Amino acid sequence: MKKSILFVLGSLFCWLAACDKGTDTPVTPVINPLNLPATVFNYANLNLPSHFTTNAGAGLPSSINGMDNTPASNPVTNDGATLGRVLFYDKNLSSNRTIACASCHVQTKSFSDTATLSKGFLNGNTRRHSMTLINARYYQRGRFFWDERAATLEEQVLMPFQDAVEMGMTLTGVVERVTAQTYYPDLFTKAFGDKTVTSDRIAKALAQFIRSIVSTNAKYDLGRAQVNGPGAPFPNFTAEENTGKQFFLQPIAQGGGACFGCHTTEAFINDVPGPANNGIDAVSTTDLGAGETFPQLAIFKGRFKTSTLRNIAQTAPYMHDGRFKTLEEVVEHYNSGIKNHPTLGNALKDANGNPIRMNMTAAQKAALVAFLKTLTDTGVATEEKWSNPFK
Ligand code: HEC
Ligand code: HEC
Repeated sequence: MKKSILFVLGSLFCWLAACDKGTDTPVTPVINPLNLPATVFNYANLNLPSHFTTNAGAGLPSSINGMDNTPASNPVTNDGATLGRVLFYDKNLSSNRTIACASCHVQTKSFSDTATLSKGFLNGNTRRHSMTLINARYYQRGRFFWDERAATLEEQVLMPFQDAVEMGMTLTGVVERVTAQTYYPDLFTKAFGDKTVTSDRIAKALAQFIRSIVSTNAKYDLGRAQVNGPGAPFPNFTAEENTGKQFFLQPIAQGGGACFGCHTTEAFINDVPGPANNGIDAVSTTDLGAGETFPQLAIFKGRFKTSTLRNIAQTAPYMHDGRFKTLEEVVEHYNSGIKNHPTLGNALKDANGNPIRMNMTAAQKAALVAFLKTLTDTGVATEEKWSNPFK
């Protein structure tokens, strides 16, 4: 009796495991398609340089203290971010399995896209230009998208799946697809203690991966670490780069461009009060930006999120609609092209309330571009821990 049960179980096992005929050895097991390290990468400990965590003193805040939007309920862990990395690169999570988050947030382009508008799973265009994900955690308001329509990063990361142009899924569908892949139970268990797949866990892991993408190793940082404040000349900069830096930091009245008024802190991201208008249009017509998210507040009409300028040389084209192809075009906009929109930022107006004309010399423009290029941390665009694990 016992023997025959064992026999039945044995052949059932053999059938399930697709044994070779006549032997007990299973055929080639499913090869894990992932290339993950034996010991997880470090995502949790950012090892921030001291200029990130110490305020330089005068003027606008330079440190990122108090800017981190990581919620207590979702700290970055190495295993959580590892799971997030796999989800971020997994094409199975779009309707026809052709698109992943990484298709429009390309690591070698500092997690943005060279296309003016990105292509979704059916080749349709996104409404706006893709955004870099670098330093997303230091946007103090913690709201996401150009128009700030996502209230948290955890909320944002589930939206592309459900977007009709981007990935064309339902959340139930995403959970089913994740559950169907052989590589996820182990990753969920390591990240969350058991293999249960929920959209909440998917959101948490993706947000952890994104919050781990921080740029702290640019030429700018090497220079900044050698001086007491951003305003001091950096020993490792060329004279031109230092000139561009001064122009970036100084208010207009002091001969600068007021750039640091909106692109603030060592993360070069807006701290408060949030979305701004930098005068690229005189009137808002088809895209009201944050005015669509907060329609009751006229002041938000035509304002857009000021995302980080870190690695900006790698994220062309520029602005929410990708209208400027080069940094030279961006600088020329601030120099001579600012339009008098009703919500234009005060920093970009003159004493009479008109759009400022900076009247920069060719040398000043070149210097400002040279400075912006010092913000590139090539590690972010190349390090394996943020790269595609499906290879
Ligand atoms: C088809 C292209 C595409 C895909 C796929 C895509 N994104 Fe995006 N992403 C964009 C575009 C375009 C924007 C800006 C849209 C807007 O502001 O209206 C954006 C914005 C974002 C932002 C906001 C950044 C900020 O600073 O506010 C985050 C975060 C983000 N995406 C994460 C993801 C994640 C996670 C996935 C996968 C689940 C994903 N994206 C899939 C194109 C894409
Ligand atoms: C009043 C606030 C404000 C000031 C001052 C300001 N900016 Fe901006 N900047 C913004 C906003 C808002 C955006 C995004 C606008 C959009 O996409 O519609 C932006 C976008 C940019 C971008 C493109 C970012 C991207 O990811 O596409 C660059 C580069 C830039 N600014 C550089 C500068 C420089 C250089 C200066 C100084 C000459 C400056 N900014 C001054 C608010 C400001």
